Formats: sequence, structure tokens, C-alpha cells
Amino acid sequence: MTRVLGIETSCDETAAAVVALLPDGSAAIQSSVVFSQIGEHAAFGGVVPEIAARAHVEALDGVIEAALLDAGVELDAVDAIAATAGPGLIGGLIVGLTTAKALAAVSGKPLLAVNHLEGHALTARLTNDLAFPYLLLLVSGGHTQILLVRGVGIYERWATTIDDALGEAFDKTAKLLGLPYPGGPSVEKEARNGDPRRFDFPRPLKGEARPELSFSGLKTAVRQAATAIQPLTAADSADICASFQQAVVDTLEERVGRSLSRFRDEFPSIARSSLVVAGGVAANTAIRAKLEQLCRQKGFDFVAPPLSLCTDNAAMIAWAGLERLRAGLSGSEDGMTAVPRSRWPLDETAAPLIGAGRRGAKA
Ligand code: KG4
Ligand code: ZN
Repeated sequence: MTRVLGIETSCDETAAAVVALLPDGSAAIQSSVVFSQIGEHAAFGGVVPEIAARAHVEALDGVIEAALLDAGVELDAVDAIAATAGPGLIGGLIVGLTTAKALAAVSGKPLLAVNHLEGHALTARLTNDLAFPYLLLLVSGGHTQILLVRGVGIYERWATTIDDALGEAFDKTAKLLGLPYPGGPSVEKEARNGDPRRFDFPRPLKGEARPELSFSGLKTAVRQAATAIQPLTAADSADICASFQQAVVDTLEERVGRSLSRFRDEFPSIARSSLVVAGGVAANTAIRAKLEQLCRQKGFDFVAPPLSLCTDNAAMIAWAGLERLRAGLSGSEDGMTAVPRSRWPLDETAAPLIGAGRRGAKA
């Protein structure tokens, strides 16, 4: 059995977890502790980097202790430590990586510097024992991308947002309407009582051959609609949310559909392929339902790991570390010399675009 302690501090969750790879090849999450800082940032309507960094300093030791305690092991019993080294908010990354280096130094265990996006990309293999290659739709507050996952460490970015991340668009819509942070769940709740046809918001890039995504035009249209009918009634607000969400659902259907078709063309011999979703926006019921339907139509399996593993957590970082160890990818890379990187695209060959590995404050 190989056991890895994972540490995640790249945004506003302070997390630690212990994950084991058992001799039969299956994985076991022995503990997963996530301390969310949402309460500390709520008053600001978004993540404040300085507050996040300080909160990580205050919480991390306790969170790691709790993860070891829950797993019923001492540090001696782990085989390696894996910590997020990027992309993300630099202050938080420094806290996590430095703590991991200190633990590695005192325990003599190897340190793996893990890319946060790789954690998201490989989670479905922890929960669903999925074979390569597969497509990943990552939609969170900081990233919006469609990735081809060919193997551990082999990723091709097929599409990304050219402006706002999708979670950011939800958060900004909520802020504009005076709904509570984080915006995604608030907008989804309001949308349930609204009319999705009242506002004809744009479906950005619809029909364009290039595969990218875009949400800033949609955000602007929402702002214009909201400004035009001040003061907003509860019904207006619900209709805006419903129409916004409908535009997002339609946009994803069309944009993701393109990548599914491309996958079919590139891998005609794979009988059963999968679309995996990750990131906080994957919690949205309307989005999930549409993607599920799209997958059925196109002959793909729709794979959505449990929400606790879709959003930021350290089990995915420990798991990425285990995958790297198993693939023999960690030997030459000494985590002790790794430096935190605020920008770290998974596909280094892809053109730098805003959503392609940059990860900043969510609003
Ligand atoms: O993955 P996550 O927890 O953190 C990162 O950004 O990495 O994602 C948070 C994002 C926020 O923008 C939040 O508004 C959005 O996910 N979100 C949702 C929903 N729940 C969370 N967006 C739409 N519908 C939801 N139900
Ligand atoms: Zn994330």
C-alpha cells in the first residue's frame, strides 16, 4: 500500500487529506478535511488574497493534524507528501508548499509538487476507475476549460474561456442583483422561480468553429437588463437569473458538444468514452441535466464525481501525487526545489489565454 498526505491551499479552501493506493490498484480516501474560508470573504463579495493567505497560515497546521487523526495515522506512516504548487493565489501557495517542505524535511518523506488542475483532471480516476483518454470540463470560479486527458501528465487543452470564468459570471450576476456570495448557488435558487425566456441574453461564440468559451458579453447583457428596469422586483431578479442560467446552459451545450464531436473524430475506435465534469459550477442542477442529456445523445458516459471532490479539496492532490508515483513521474522532480506558480497551465504548449491556468481572486 502507498499512502500520500495531500495539502491544498491555492484559493480559499485550506485542505488536507490522506489517500491510499491499495495493492489491488483501488484507492481509499482515508481522510479529507476541508476548511472553507467563505465566511471570511463573504462581506467582500469575492476572495481577498491577503485575507486568504492569513487564514491559510492560521488553519493549515490544525487541518493537517485533523487529516492525520481522521486517517488514524502518524506522519511516519505516509509514503510521500503532495502539495499544490500552482496555479493559484501566490500567498496561499507559499503557505501550503512551505509547510509541506517543512514536513518533508523533518520526516524524510519525498515531496511532490502538484498542479491543482491535474488534481481536478485525475479525480474521476479516484472515484470511477476511469481509463484514459477522456474529456474533462472544468468549470469553477477560477477556471473554465475543456481538456483532453490522455494520461498522467499528458493533457491537451481543447478550449478555454477567452475572458471570464463561468463561476465568475455566476458570482458577478449575483453581486449585481444583490444576492449572497458565493453567487452560483444563489443564482440557481432564484432561477427556479423565474422565466428563462423573458430576457434573450446572448449565447457567446455560438456557431463559431473555434472551440473557445466566452462569458463577458453575457455578463454585460445581464448588467444592461438589470439597469434598464430599476428598481428590480423579486420577480425581475428571478427572471434575470433564469434567463442568465438558460443562456449558460445553451452555451455549454453547444460549446461542449463541439469538443465531444472532435473526440469522436480523433478516437473513432473507442467504443465508450466519457465526459468528466469538475469544479464548483458542476454543482448546478440545470447544467448537469443538460450535459447528461448531451452525453446520452452523443454516446458518452457522463461522469460527475461527488460534489465534495468536484470542488477544491486535498484528496485530489494526494491522488494526483499517487498517480505520479505510480507512473514513475516523480523521481527526477524534487518537490523540495519547487517554487509556487500563480500561473501554471496543464498544457504548456497551448496559447496563453486568460482562463488557461491563471487562477486569481474569484470576483
Ligand atoms: O471549484 P470551486 O469551489 O472553487 C474554485 O473556484 O476553484 O468553485 C466555486 C465556484 C464559484 O464561482 C461558485 O459561484 C460556483 O463555483 N458555483 C456554482 C454553483 N455552486 C458553486 N455555480 C453555479 N451553480 C451552482 N449551483
Ligand atoms: Zn479548483
